[in-house]
Amino acid sequence: MAVESVALLEIRAEGVYLDVTAGLGGHTALIAQRLTTGLVIASDRDAESLELARANTAEWAERIRFHQATFGQLDAVIAAEGFQKVDGLLADLGVSRFQLTEAPHRGFSFLTDGPLDMRMTQTTGMTAADLVNYTAEKAIADLIYQWGEERRARKIARAIVRARPIRSTLHLADVVLRAVPRTGRLHPATKTFMALRMAVNDEPGELDRLLDIGPGLLKVGGRMVVISFMSGEDRKVKERFKALGRDDLAVILTKHPLQPSEQETRQNPPSRSAKLRAAMRKQ
Ligand SMILES: C[S@@+](CC[C@H](N)C(=O)[O-])C[C@H]1O[C@@H](n2cnc3c(N)ncnc32)[C@H](O)[C@@H]1O
Repeated sequence: MAVESVALLEIRAEGVYLDVTAGLGGHTALIAQRLTTGLVIASDRDAESLELARANTAEWAERIRFHQATFGQLDAVIAAEGFQKVDGLLADLGVSRFQLTEAPHRGFSFLTDGPLDMRMTQTTGMTAADLVNYTAEKAIADLIYQWGEERRARKIARAIVRARPIRSTLHLADVVLRAVPRTGRLHPATKTFMALRMAVNDEPGELDRLLDIGPGLLKVGGRMVVISFMSGEDRKVKERFKALGRDDLAVILTKHPLQPSEQETRQNPPSRSAKLRAAMRKQ
C-alpha cells in the first residue's frame, strides 16, 4: 500500500515529511521523488536498515536526512533538523523484508538458523534468548498468548522452559514444533516468534508513544498515515484517531481502513493483514 499511503499524505513539493519507519527506504524514496525544496526526515531504530535505506535512496540524497531513533525520540529528531512541526508523518509498523528474510544474523526468522536476538536496535536491551532463558514460564505463556494471539501458549511455554538453554532460532522453532502439532497453513512457531519480537522491542509501548507524540508533531492540515499488521495495533490506531476526532483536533481520512488489493497480496503475501489509517490535524 505504498502508493496509497503516499497519496494520503498529499505531498507538497516544498513540505517537510517524517518517515518514522525508513526500513529499506521504499516509502522514503516515494516521498522524496515528489519534493523540490522539501525534505524527508527518515528515521528507524535499526542502524543496519538505515545504511540500506541510504544506499537505496542515494538518487534523492539531498532531500533526505536519516536518523537512528525510536518513536519516543521523534520530537528530538525533528528539532535536530531545525523544525518543530512537519507536514506529514508516515509509519509502516513491524519488521522489514530485510530483517525477516535477508538477515539471519538478526534472529527474526525461524526459517534460517541464527542467534536468537530479534532486537531492532542492535546495541541495547534484552535479546529473545535472554527472554526465553530467564523469564518465568507463566510470564512467557502470557506474552505468547497476549501478543501472539496464540491459544496454545501454555504448552509452548512449558516446552521452552524444559528445553532451556535455547540460543538459536532453529532450536526454538523445533521446540515449538514438537510441542504443538501443525494444524493450518501457518508454521506453529509463527505466533511465538511474533510475540517474542514484540516483547523484545516493546512494540506495543512504542506504538503508544507514536500515537501520543505523532499528532502533536503535525502542522494544522498535516497528515498522519499508519500501516499496521496486527489487529491489536490497528485497534489502537483507530481508537486514537477517533479520540482526536471527538476532540475536534483531527479529521479521519479513512472511514474504514484501507487494505491491500488482491494483486498486492499475491505478490507480497505478508501484506495480507495490513491495514492503513490516516488522519489530518485540524487545529
Ligand atoms: C515494515 S518496515 C518499513 C519498511 C519501509 N516502509 C520501506 O519502504 O522499506 C518497519 C521498519 O520499522 C522499524 N521500526 C519498528 N518499530 C520501530 C520503532 N519503535 N522505532 C523506530 N523504528 C521502528 C523497523 O526497524 C523496520 O525497519
